[in-house]
Amino acid sequence: MQKFIQITDCHLFEDQQGKLLGMDTQSGLDAVLDQMHQEVTDFDFFLCTGDLSQDGSVASYKRLKSQIEQDGKPQYWVPGNHDNRANMLSIAPENKEMCPVIKTGKWQIIMLDSQVPGSVFGNLEPSQIDIVKNALAADSTSHTMLVMHHQPIPMGCEWLDNQKIKNNDELLKIIKQHSNIKVVLWGHVHQDTDRLIDGVRFISTPSTCVQFTPNSTDFGVDNKAPGYRWMELYDDGTIKTAVSRIENIDFNIDYDVKGY
Ligand SMILES: [Fe+2]
Repeated sequence: MQKFIQITDCHLFEDQQGKLLGMDTQSGLDAVLDQMHQEVTDFDFFLCTGDLSQDGSVASYKRLKSQIEQDGKPQYWVPGNHDNRANMLSIAPENKEMCPVIKTGKWQIIMLDSQVPGSVFGNLEPSQIDIVKNALAADSTSHTMLVMHHQPIPMGCEWLDNQKIKNNDELLKIIKQHSNIKVVLWGHVHQDTDRLIDGVRFISTPSTCVQFTPNSTDFGVDNKAPGYRWMELYDDGTIKTAVSRIENIDFNIDYDVKGY
């Protein structure tokens, strides 16, 4: 069994006191990692699923990497719409933290870049679709998880669903054709969802800072706490997973803001 911790949508700034919707994003991440250390005794690696920085600064990526490194576990990153891919790569190179395919136990994890530079919505360029196809062609027996920043299926939030992966049909077609794809995992939506669709788990994870209101037509900030996800990948292709949110800490969140 392999176990990982998913950290997503940290929205860190070059300035450690930087705030998103009134909330100090660094202190959100600090509190989430503190709680994780109390709850999780052992794990194998971290997955960091985009919008790791709000301003795309090299300093924010450096700080995140060294903070996570303190656990002595590998960390793997994909970019989100707020990230600066070149700056990420300068800290997390493609042959290490930003590698597209991770082999772990009886599983392979395919890390996809759904970023469209300058846009909020997601899309998978032909090169990303090729990464999926080639990894599945090279290894058709490992249980497979697909990881990306943007949601590949609608969330039921109209404003967020305008931002989903535009060519999600291409990805869903590949998923239908490969029974060894067991899990699809993403960030971006700042909320916890876990659905089983035609035998495949489709899972989203809360942000380490502010949360978005589920099933909302317009942008809305939820009063739920920041959190992380743990997931166990078993040799028989099954998984166990849950989200844990921090408790007993009040963050100063501005609920009146109409966008981010
Ligand atoms: Fe995002």
